[in-house]
This record gives sequence, C-alpha cells and structure tokens, in this order.
Amino acid sequence: MIDLRSDTVTRPTPGMRQAAFEVEVGDDVYGEDPSVLKLEETAARLLGKEAALFVTSGTQGNQIAALTHCQPGDEVLLEANAHLFLYEGASMSALAGVQPRTIEGDRGAMDPNKVRAAVRPDDIHFPETGLICVENTHNKAGGAVVSLGNMQAIYEVARENGIPVHLDGARLFNAVTASGVSAKQYASQADTVQFCLSKGLGAPVGSIITGSASFIARARKWRKRLGGGLRQVGVIAEPGYIALTQMVDRLADDHDNARLLADSVNQIAGLRVECPVETNIVLVNVEGAGMTAEQFLDELKKEGILAVPFGTHTVRFVTHFDVSREDIKEAIDHMRKII
Ligand SMILES: Cc1ncc(COP(=O)(O)O)c(C=O)c1O
Repeated sequence: MIDLRSDTVTRPTPGMRQAAFEVEVGDDVYGEDPSVLKLEETAARLLGKEAALFVTSGTQGNQIAALTHCQPGDEVLLEANAHLFLYEGASMSALAGVQPRTIEGDRGAMDPNKVRAAVRPDDIHFPETGLICVENTHNKAGGAVVSLGNMQAIYEVARENGIPVHLDGARLFNAVTASGVSAKQYASQADTVQFCLSKGLGAPVGSIITGSASFIARARKWRKRLGGGLRQVGVIAEPGYIALTQMVDRLADDHDNARLLADSVNQIAGLRVECPVETNIVLVNVEGAGMTAEQFLDELKKEGILAVPFGTHTVRFVTHFDVSREDIKEAIDHMRKII
C-alpha cells in the first residue's frame, strides 16, 4: 500500500524504536521523566516561550489550551474551516463550555479587520471574546502557510482587546520549512502554540503546548484532570525528542514530493489540483473525471493507493516520511490507469 491518507501514518524510525527501548524513565506526574523534561525544555527554547507541556495529541493540546485560556460561556474566534472547529468533535464546546464563532478566511488566513469586527463589545447580552485561534499550516486549505504578516496583524487586534491568541501549529514545522520563517517568529505572534510531533516529524505519539510558565502550570493541571498525566512516558517522549531535533530538515522532501504529485496530477485530463501546493498536502478535484471522491478513492484502493475524501469531489493526499519519490511516481501511474 502507498498510504497518502495523512502524515500521521508515519511509523517510528529505527532510531526512535531503539531510543524507546533504551531510555531511562521516571514518573512524569512527579516531574521525574528525564526525556519529558528534555523535550519540554527544548520545545520551549525553540519556540521562544517560557515553558512547554508534552500532551498525547494535537486535539488534547488544543483542548487544554481552550480550557486554560477560557471560562465557560466565552466565545472563541476561529477560521471557518479550522481543524478545531471541524474535526475535534465540538470538544471546545463540550469540554471548555465555549461558543465557537467562525470567520471565513482566504486560504486559511482570517482578515484582521473581520477579526476586529467580531470581537464582542462590553454588553450584558453578549459572551466575552475569550480566545482567538489561528491555524498554521492550514489543513483544510490544503496545507496553506498563513503569513507571518497576517499573524502579526491578528495578534495586534488581540492585544488591543486583551484577548489571548492560540496557534494550532499541528504542522508548524511545515510552515517553517516552506517559508523560512522560524518557529520562534511564528510563536511570537501567539500566546500559546500547539504543535504535533506525530505528523510529518514522524514520532509515534505526542504533541507539545508552549506558553508562559504560569499558563503551562495551569495547563498541566488541566492535562491531569483530563487523565493525560502519564507515568514512565519517556518511552514516547524520547522518540518525540528525536522527531523535534532530527526530523525537521527532511520535511522539505515531503514538500518536493507533494509538488511532484501536484504537477503530475495536473497533466492528467479530468483531474485538477484545487489550490497551490505550499507544503505536504495536495487537494485534487476529480469531478472532471466524472467521479465522486469516494468512487475515485475506491478505484485507488484497488490499485493499492490510499487517500481520504475532503469534499464531494475533492480527495486529499498527504506526503510524508513513509512515502518515497518512487511511491509518488507509482501512485501517479495508477491514477493515469484509473482515468
Ligand atoms: C491542524 C490540525 N490541528 C490539530 C490536529 C489534531 O491532531 P491529533 O490528530 O494529534 O489529535 C490535526 C490533525 O490532523 C490537524 O491537522
């Protein structure tokens, strides 16, 4: 199988497996796991924040951020196709008791003026605007990189109004690789950042939240309340450390492979790449081939290729560590055959 469903399907490298086997561990709820401490310190330093917290997933990281920043009854501003809004089971509402309010973006970027206009004035009828969320890269917008300038403008609006900003940077290092803007620069335009170790960076499990020391202390308590306080967790934190310190540079290969996939798809009559490919995600419209996304995916599966539906006629392909350039060429040959 050539599995292009997501960069989450990457398996740990031999080095990660060996490290998990050999690592010295301790009880992380007592703050005694050396790998977790090392990973959190490294992540905080890389993003220019005071502290960091290792969490089980991107979703858990985003939820802990909402729980820590907000009070029940607050409103959260976020982009209309944000992962936090579409794909996290309404957990912000279910767990933090907040109301999401969406703003239609352009390739994942919200217009700062629309954000300003959506901030609630002081009125007894209204919820308080408790948080603004930004996503970079933006998954539903096809891995689009949200510019630093856009993030700066939104952060300015937030600060004018005393509202915190949370960056869902599940694929932050893809944005870093594509733009040349450092993780620290992006992180400087948000109060807190969540990024995933388990996507393009290849770790088997885990995400990080970074922020101020006092925020992370409160977030740590929320993680415990949610049952996310783990024990001898060095067995996954050490692979996470390898992911963060050794796997960032290779994301460029995934971006090259995504461009190869997109360029080749555009040469197949009936298939059309829907938006510019900036990172490791390619959205392909199959309507011209007279098929729905599901029908096309069924045909692909028969050829040993996996991808996911992203709309009635849209298929999402994600390149990652476990697919080679040869795999991409093979996938393209199969698509030609299907058409
Ligand atoms: C932008 C974004 N945020 C958050 C998540 C959630 O991460 P996880 O699957 O680790 O919960 C994802 C997962 O694909 C994502 O794409």
